Amino acid sequence: MSSRTADSPAFAALGRRLQTQPARWLVTGSAGFIGSHLVQALLGLGQSVVGLDNFATGHRRNIDEVRALVAPEQWLRHRFIEADIRDLDACHDACRDVDFVLHQAALGSVPRSLANPVLTNSSNVDGFLNMLVAARDAGVKRFVYAASSSTYGDHQALPKVEECIGRPLSPYAVTKLVNELYAEVFARCYGFQSIGLRYFNVFGARQDPEGAYAAVIPRWTRALLLGEQVTINGDGETSRDFCFIDNAVQANLLAACSDDAAAVNEVYNVAVDGRTSLNRLFAILRDTLSEIHPEVSSAQAVYGDFRAGDVRHSQADIGKARRLLGYQPSHRLEEGVRAAMPWYVSRFAVADEVRR
Ligand SMILES: NC(=O)c1ccc[n+]([C@@H]2O[C@H](COP(=O)([O-])OP(=O)(O)OC[C@H]3O[C@@H](n4cnc5c(N)ncnc54)[C@H](O)[C@@H]3O)[C@@H](O)[C@H]2O)c1
Repeated sequence: MSSRTADSPAFAALGRRLQTQPARWLVTGSAGFIGSHLVQALLGLGQSVVGLDNFATGHRRNIDEVRALVAPEQWLRHRFIEADIRDLDACHDACRDVDFVLHQAALGSVPRSLANPVLTNSSNVDGFLNMLVAARDAGVKRFVYAASSSTYGDHQALPKVEECIGRPLSPYAVTKLVNELYAEVFARCYGFQSIGLRYFNVFGARQDPEGAYAAVIPRWTRALLLGEQVTINGDGETSRDFCFIDNAVQANLLAACSDDAAAVNEVYNVAVDGRTSLNRLFAILRDTLSEIHPEVSSAQAVYGDFRAGDVRHSQADIGKARRLLGYQPSHRLEEGVRAAMPWYVSRFAVADEVRR
């Protein structure tokens, strides 16, 4: 089986265009998972990139990894600012002379927001508003921001379409909804151009497997590699539309550079229009890993309580992003897991040697 499905023609054309017309980009949250991939992709296309992060959940090693993966002359077009988006002056400084902002910096995780809603609000709402103000003042061409599927809240219909949202189920979901409201108001009041991308469970290399708030794919992969117990929250029939990182990168670049006026000041689902239960996900991770580490093939998960604030099922209708942005996911879940696995294997190689 090929490791990926067909490329988006629009994305391929955009890559060619950017290489001949380089622009200046600001990526916030650039030491994090999604942000570091955006920096890598942009540098690879010959763009100038300012990265900003305060290392709240991101890591210097992610920036180092990007440096090792791009050509030395591409790395020369990168500048990093260690700063906090809750500091408006720092946001103004970062936005200076920038064409496009890809705003990723935020505190993720529903459980983290339940444990400390004030902290989540300060980065995700105050920080977001600072970034909007700074980008507006600097006259950036477009502001693309990380929205979230959590905005669908208690709306039951599947697949999720952008216009039909329910009530938020967590403080985190409130912050991401507020982001969309502020972006809409900035369009109305200041003529400011933005696009929100409602990510659905993005995964891939450099997604942090450590800590209490780690996402499910890195957490389970780490546990399988280290021979630790995997616990599934609930009955395992909770489902998600897992989205490989390359799809999210594609959506960001298409959103930033779209020439279609109808595409701007909108929000878009970013996923693959697939629905995978946690039970099935566990089997996919175990089977993919056991091709490299056969001893993993007998691993079994145990079941725990359902997690507060979680939606039961999630699946994206990606028709709007396809129509207006030319988005076409390059990787489905299994393809993405296969592509990401070598990174996890190398990350835990030392621990694995010890286990043997
Ligand atoms: N990964 C997903 O599945 C997913 C799903 C929906 C939405 N999102 C959103 O996408 C964005 C990126 O998520 P990610 O998965 O890469 O998470 P991540 O934690 O790896 O990256 C977020 C980055 O933002 C930085 N940051 C946090 N607060 C900051 C602040 N006040 N000032 C400066 N930097 C700050 C962190 O240090 C981190 O490097 C977030 O806005 C998140 O809410 C992610």
